[in-house]
Amino acid sequence: MIHNKLTPFPKDFLWGAASAAYQVEGAWNEDGKGVSNWDQFVRIPGKTFKGTTGDVAVDHYHRYKEDVRLMAEMGMRAYRFSVAWTRIFPNGKGEINPKGLEFYNNLINELKANNVEPILTLYHWDLPQALQDEYGGWESRNIIKDFTAYSVELFKQFGARVKYWVSLNEQNIFTGLGYRMAAHPPGVKDDKLFYQVNHHANLANASVIKEFRKYVPDGKIGPSFAYSPAYAASSNPKDIIAAENAEELNSHWWMDIYAWGKYPKSAWSYLEKNNLAPAVEEGDFELLKESKPDFMGLNYYQTTTFEENPIEGGVTAGEMNTSGKKGTSKDGGIPGVFKTVSNPNLERTNWDWNIDPNGLRIALRRITGRYNLPILISENGLGEYDKLEENDVVNDDYRIDFVRSHVEAMQEAISDGVDLMGYCVWSFTDLLSWLNGFQKRYGFVYVNQHEEGEHDLRRIKKKSFHWYKELIETNGEKL
Ligand code: BG6
Repeated sequence: MIHNKLTPFPKDFLWGAASAAYQVEGAWNEDGKGVSNWDQFVRIPGKTFKGTTGDVAVDHYHRYKEDVRLMAEMGMRAYRFSVAWTRIFPNGKGEINPKGLEFYNNLINELKANNVEPILTLYHWDLPQALQDEYGGWESRNIIKDFTAYSVELFKQFGARVKYWVSLNEQNIFTGLGYRMAAHPPGVKDDKLFYQVNHHANLANASVIKEFRKYVPDGKIGPSFAYSPAYAASSNPKDIIAAENAEELNSHWWMDIYAWGKYPKSAWSYLEKNNLAPAVEEGDFELLKESKPDFMGLNYYQTTTFEENPIEGGVTAGEMNTSGKKGTSKDGGIPGVFKTVSNPNLERTNWDWNIDPNGLRIALRRITGRYNLPILISENGLGEYDKLEENDVVNDDYRIDFVRSHVEAMQEAISDGVDLMGYCVWSFTDLLSWLNGFQKRYGFVYVNQHEEGEHDLRRIKKKSFHWYKELIETNGEKL
């Protein structure tokens, strides 16, 4: 529907921005931190753009005070960050590292002192390597116990001060890139294992939510899901079925479990027929059903368009564009299920990501319609080349346009009846993109860091910083 009058943003709306430990902190081997799967993976030649690592990243570990000062200057109401498991438990379990706790204690205190609400992500992909070595990490049910123990420690330490928690960040992405495309650690291509790993992650997620109720009864917790709403390429019913297949296998497969504790029927039956369904043990579904999240965390970047894909001679895995050269990504699919095609109605970024603010409204409405849960947009943003001009100026008008159009879509969705808690733009400062180095920038704050050479890492407010500040001041009125 087209609204004549839009509903204003709620007064306590969490206008924020986000980051992840590995992408900002650096200090990869300082103060007792253990080695993570990413610390190891980036050292394998050819895995990341120009061999970039998070060894230094943007040095947030040493500069967090300056970063929080900038957040306060912007008037930011919330900051979503993740804890590096290896700072707390260097080996994933056992001995606690007090220095690791101290860092997050300081960060949280600094945020609170500056009226920035902390939103703490328990897991943003940096698994302790010790657990990968010992039992294959997410490949074993042992992970459930260890992830729960780590999370409970954080609930105990920070639960009195931190009220918003994200359990797993983008389970669909870290397992997909880790176990289907071999682009993330542990660099495996095994569809059957992929579904098993996901079952374990679902159980770990549920177990942590269950414990959370005991330790932080007045807090809110939910997973962050990378939802790319599926469009059909045409009104041909075969394309519509392909898009429905994509919704079931790419999205409901996770969100149904989070919200209802059950796998979607048609996806399960497809996996069973193809011998891909995970092994389930007694009691699993009880745990999954009793651990409902308080909200669905939504990481929204783009929509994807689908077409029928024949069984014989159908398209298989595609290719990602990690170079920033427009047009270098390749469509992919699963024969007999779907294939992706480009959408001629949408502009794309230099990394071939569709720019589709209406897709955000669609995502918010679909989630609300199916699950009737509040939603926290835990990520949304634009990765682009930024140009540092004379006198330390960055005119990122394209980022302002991107965020503005998505905020408009959010307000349309609120007017549609969506219960939206907040909006965390990815990202606050520029940071390391896992596979794309430092040239693909997302921040409101430019950081003088690059793939090659030594740089001073100074922070520079971009034009979008000032724009977002005003947006927050007017609670979303001044677009
Ligand atoms: C999300 C992740 O998938 O997208 C972030 O949660 C990531 O960690 C972001 O950086 C943007 O992706 P990319 O590949 O452009 O860095």
